[in-house]
Amino acid sequence: MDAAKISTGQELLSRRYLTAFRIPKISHRFTDVLVIGSGVGGLSAAIHAAKVDGETEVLLIAKSELSDCSTNYAQGGIAAVLEPELNADSTASHLHDTIEAGCGLADSQTVEQVVTEGVERVRELIQMGARFDLDQGKIHFTREGGHSHPRILHAADSTGREIERALIDNALKYPNLTSLPHTFAIDLLIHPEGSACGAIVHRPTGVLQTIWAKQVILATGGAGRLYRETTNPPVTTGDGLAMAFRAGALLRDMEFVQFHPTTLYVAGADRFLITEAVRGEGGKLIDSTGQRFMTSYHPRGELAPRDAVSRGIIRRMKETGDNKVYLDLSDLPPEKIQEHFPQIHQICLSFGIDIAREPIPVRPSAHYTIGGVKVDAEGATTIPGLYAVGEVSSTGLHGANRLGSNSLLEGLVYGTRAGRKAAREARRISRLPIPFEPREEEGAAASEAGYLDLPDLQKSLQSLLWHRAGIERSGPELEASLRQVKEWISYVLPISFHNPVGWTLQNMLTGAYLIIRGALRRAESRGVHFRTDFPEQRREWERHQEVSREILEGENEEIGSKRKP
Ligand code: FAD
Ligand code: SIN
Repeated sequence: MDAAKISTGQELLSRRYLTAFRIPKISHRFTDVLVIGSGVGGLSAAIHAAKVDGETEVLLIAKSELSDCSTNYAQGGIAAVLEPELNADSTASHLHDTIEAGCGLADSQTVEQVVTEGVERVRELIQMGARFDLDQGKIHFTREGGHSHPRILHAADSTGREIERALIDNALKYPNLTSLPHTFAIDLLIHPEGSACGAIVHRPTGVLQTIWAKQVILATGGAGRLYRETTNPPVTTGDGLAMAFRAGALLRDMEFVQFHPTTLYVAGADRFLITEAVRGEGGKLIDSTGQRFMTSYHPRGELAPRDAVSRGIIRRMKETGDNKVYLDLSDLPPEKIQEHFPQIHQICLSFGIDIAREPIPVRPSAHYTIGGVKVDAEGATTIPGLYAVGEVSSTGLHGANRLGSNSLLEGLVYGTRAGRKAAREARRISRLPIPFEPREEEGAAASEAGYLDLPDLQKSLQSLLWHRAGIERSGPELEASLRQVKEWISYVLPISFHNPVGWTLQNMLTGAYLIIRGALRRAESRGVHFRTDFPEQRREWERHQEVSREILEGENEEIGSKRKP
């Protein structure tokens, strides 16, 4: 198959809205700025939008509890050079490390913006009440793979929980900021003239509602749950990516999915993350014979970039025939383990593993969605009035491989920028959007849910991505999985579901299609994307890969015209 010419399932392109809605029949709500998502990106955006004049009405929705998001699970910390003199560090060094990790695709202006403004944002977070670990009264900085210096602030091994707590506490103080948890965004509303003007949502009572807004900020996180093995919480099903795609936004680099090398591997246990900071503090990877192995695969050993460590583990597992390796903490003083990694200690203990004495069984899992909705320096997408911040976005910071602890920072910086910009823009627009009915052909298809076992299909999809579009990929496997996903799309996308379970599966299929398609076309290995049939980086691929409805429609037309006699 010519990877550049892959016809797209027509069903994927024919759905503009996953649900039909009739304006006179449903309730409407109006706001100045709508924020979809309550992680670090969404909360930062909402707070800064609400702060601009204290009057701009901000509505923040989340599909579950506000704190149910990846942000809340972040462990290692947040990278920012707050005290350069302490570790002979500099923002220039942070910039250099980030660009190096990005394997030729990190955007230097974006990196500079994030590493410099990030320092200010982290100080602001501390002023908001976030408490990070101290060492003799000064901030304790830890280290992770790819960072040349210890520059990561952390709150033991529960940094995300502390950041989320501080942001939620702060957000609740603004009378002009309202939050609606358990509100599932189904689709973005785009005015016939082209700008974003709200979203159609499903309320916890089971009813549909339209939220009309002057500006919309998408902060829905990543798509880790598309994979069978993942560190991500259940909310990360790539809804925002699929919504933005249906609405016509430009996405890019969907093939770049980052795998974290070390997640707890015990039968029946969730793939609980074992933070890279454990290796930063001296943890060693060993195989089942007790042999340390990472140094034979990479000069930086356990602190090599994540893609190299993940592949090193996979290779050693193949060599030994085991389904896991081990993380040995025996070089760390027991009091350090208790103090720095209390959560990991506790969780492992609940499975009978005392990490001070026994190595932790680990293996890699899907962790972070590098690709996403393409944005500019303010977080603005290609659709006027629509912004994307946090993991759903593609800012250019991470290139082809994300440096650990850079994403919370990115969420703070871009959340703040987009929140401020959206509020200022909303102030310039005098009238709230006037509700409109979607054109008939854009409405939901007529087909009703038949005899579908949705959880089974979801599991099959997750398994397919893990095995065929995982840490190592190959052309023939990607082709076969693309065919499989298209087949599922052909009978799942046309259905009109009436609840989030069905819409979620439709979003996951859309995300899976975009990831596999991107991975099949990128005929090289770069950063987190490793092709066994193209193991080298190729100069002609030192570029981003963009995708949108329009691009896919164009390709389909081209293929169709070639087929004509
Ligand atoms: P999230 O925090 O995931 O929030 C997404 C929000 O979108 C949620 O509120 C969700 O309800 C909402 N949402 C999604 N779909 C819909 C919908 N259809 N309708 C309504 N709402 C919706 N990064 C670091 O920098 N340092 C770390 O130490 C670190 N550790 C990590 C550890 C783990 C276990 C994981 C999973 C990630 C870690 N990361 C870390 C990555 C980082 O946590 C995430 O990239 C970041 O928190 C994403 O923030 P976000 O605001 O984009 O999305
Ligand atoms: C970790 O703590 O290892 C995760 C850090 C990150 O993903 O940025």
